[in-house]
Amino acid sequence: MRKIAIAMAKGGVGKTTTAVNLAHGLAMQGNRVLLVDCDTQGQDAKFLGVKPEYGLYEFITGNDGRGATVARNEAVCLCRDNLWLLDGGIKLVELKNWLGEQPGNVRQTVLRKSIVPKQGSIDYMIFDCAPGWDVLSVNILMTTREVLCPVALQGPALEGLKTFFGYLMSAQRLNGDLQLNYILPTMFDKRTRQSFDIFKQLKKLFNKQICSPIHYNVRLSEAPSRGKTIFEYSRKAIGARDYEKLLRRIEDDGIKQKENPEFT
Ligand SMILES: Nc1ncnc2c1ncn2[C@@H]1O[C@H](COP(=O)(O)OP(=O)(O)OP(=O)(O)O)[C@@H](O)[C@H]1O
Ligand SMILES: [Mg+2]
Repeated sequence: MRKIAIAMAKGGVGKTTTAVNLAHGLAMQGNRVLLVDCDTQGQDAKFLGVKPEYGLYEFITGNDGRGATVARNEAVCLCRDNLWLLDGGIKLVELKNWLGEQPGNVRQTVLRKSIVPKQGSIDYMIFDCAPGWDVLSVNILMTTREVLCPVALQGPALEGLKTFFGYLMSAQRLNGDLQLNYILPTMFDKRTRQSFDIFKQLKKLFNKQICSPIHYNVRLSEAPSRGKTIFEYSRKAIGARDYEKLLRRIEDDGIKQKENPEFT
């Protein structure tokens, strides 16, 4: 099972768009995927056009906040073939408060200890992180091994990345397995010089991690209001082709990971 955090401290860079489309793309390939929305905005459910009754709050705490017990398998919502969602939303404010009250040595690993699917029941866990940095972000980075960081090719993109790297390094001190595997340029606009300039800089800095960019594509911004992923809304759009390329790369890396044995 691979666990990938879609993370970047800067807001509006395409984290949720990437998490949802990547998760659905992987599920369409026959992988069993759990998408975890770790944001109080609860956008993933909207992007997928579903209204789950429960979510991450109930999954972790084991109750609905009004005294009724909720089993873990009740808290996940089947959204598409092979794709399950652990919904985020406003209840995560309470979850973060609750995490904050846990003793220091367990606070950061609550998520890691809670989300443990039975062997073979999930192939990919995709975590859609909130912008900024808080106790839940730390918990996610203690749970995952891989980070995919979307960088919008506009504005002061590299500044945002620098801030995020500070956070990432502090998380790596606690979780030695954590690796920044993918830098995903997003909102690539061929009409602007800025897009090319930032992309060039990123390629130079992250020769190994850099992915093919996701173009700025109106279809990608329209799909969520219809509750559809790009593969359902506009299969032939450039945004669909870009996300397909990304998921192929991630799948191929998984095959390579399997091929290379690890020795102690
Ligand atoms: N490649 C793209 N082309 C055009 N619009 C896009 C693209 N990627 C994302 N968008 C749009 O940009 C907005 C922000 O995207 P998204 O919600 O995925 O970012 P985010 O990083 O998750 O934001 P937040 O930090 O608030 O969680 C959304 O309206 C989305 O539809
Ligand atoms: Mg988001």
